[in-house]
Amino acid sequence: MEKVAVIGLGYVGLPLAVRAKEKGYDVIGVDLDESKLKSIADGVSPVVDGFVEEYFLTNPIDATSDFTQIADADIVLICVPTPVDDNFVPNLGPVKGACASVAKHVKKEALVVLESTVNPGVSEEIVKPIFEEAGFTVGTDIYVAHCPERINPGDPKWNVTNIPRVVGAFSAKGLAKAVAFYEKVVDGEIRPMKSIREAEAVKIVENSFRDINIAFVNELAQSFDRLGIDIKDVIDGASTKPFAFMPHYPACGIGGHCIPVDPYYLIEHAHKKVGFNHVFMRRARAINNYMPHYTVEKLQDALNDIKMPMNGTTVAVLGLAYKANVDDVRESPSYKIIKHLEKQHATVITYDPFVLEESTEKTLENTLKEADAIIVATNHDAFTDMDLGLLASHDVKIVIDGKNCLDKDAIEKHGIAYHGIGR
Ligand SMILES: NC(=O)c1ccc[n+]([C@@H]2O[C@H](COP(=O)([O-])OP(=O)(O)OC[C@H]3O[C@@H](n4cnc5c(N)ncnc54)[C@H](O)[C@@H]3O)[C@@H](O)[C@H]2O)c1
Repeated sequence: MEKVAVIGLGYVGLPLAVRAKEKGYDVIGVDLDESKLKSIADGVSPVVDGFVEEYFLTNPIDATSDFTQIADADIVLICVPTPVDDNFVPNLGPVKGACASVAKHVKKEALVVLESTVNPGVSEEIVKPIFEEAGFTVGTDIYVAHCPERINPGDPKWNVTNIPRVVGAFSAKGLAKAVAFYEKVVDGEIRPMKSIREAEAVKIVENSFRDINIAFVNELAQSFDRLGIDIKDVIDGASTKPFAFMPHYPACGIGGHCIPVDPYYLIEHAHKKVGFNHVFMRRARAINNYMPHYTVEKLQDALNDIKMPMNGTTVAVLGLAYKANVDDVRESPSYKIIKHLEKQHATVITYDPFVLEESTEKTLENTLKEADAIIVATNHDAFTDMDLGLLASHDVKIVIDGKNCLDKDAIEKHGIAYHGIGR
């Protein structure tokens, strides 16, 4: 039985480890976060993911912080974070650290796959030298590949079992090994790429494509708000065109570890390496980064309409997670909204049923009872399905629908001011 080591047991690594176990591999997980290791040892998934929740208990994996345990692994999958700092500068520290630890302990002839999202050039310029410094000849006695993860936590249809993958490697043998492994664990297409750089670029292009399209509709939303046009209706209308249009929707901001982060890896790399300025990608990032501020401006305008000051008004932010029905708060626009509100001296309360430990309130009803105005920042089912009558009975005066997920007409029928993003 081949042994798989998964380095980094987060939203990407844990589902992959569980899937490899389900497919019959001997699996060892490695992570530096002791609380995660304890949770895994206790049989409690540290991430909210439908696939993991279903298969974790029946496919338990051993997890450790001890890298010596990868010494007999045939396949090593590196799934560590690739964040940016407060100034949006990419931080490849975790990738470098994980590669150095792997290079120290991995055996000859093993396949090492970097799954983390990286800019084109990282495998060649950072990963390969680390293995060479450890005495390996990449492509000959160690096989290094890149297979960017595309997982979409919370997605009911696409998960680690069926999302098609692209793979790049340094040698034909390495590519064949990597493709063979992914063909065993993934039911979707596995597409070999001509080079490892192309595989790296695929992921950045996918997420930048999404970032740019969302920036476009976020810009439209700001224009349509002033023009009195409902952007949601317009996008739904445009979606009747059966070709060459793909709907994207505006919102109070973009969160998560991917879309608001990955474009910076290419922006920075192209600028530093060849002096190219990705004007369009930078502009998209700037537009999307502005949306939490824009959302608070909408509340400010709505309060002005009813002659209430922001100062001292109780504003409830509904949702801390960056997307519906998950507990992931990374880069969540909710925290930026809260910051803007606090700057204007609003009294901010928060409620997220998936992130109760960080919520100031523990029930939706109590939150509404306290609030003069609400900002819906996450489209959790608990909010989209809420009894809108509660808003009126608790005297909520303004609803800012940061996800355009509530019934505008029904809210207005209750005599409550409704403002979406672009509607
Ligand atoms: N979350 C997603 O939806 C998603 C989707 C596709 C791709 N990705 C990419 O996958 C990568 C991982 O993302 P994630 O969401 O799983 O991150 P995560 O933060 O959920 O998990 C990463 C784990 O790696 C561990 N770690 C950090 N440095 C380590 C080291 N040196 N050795 C061992 N473990 C280490 C951390 O403790 C953490 O548990 C990132 O590059 C990300 O961009 C994420």
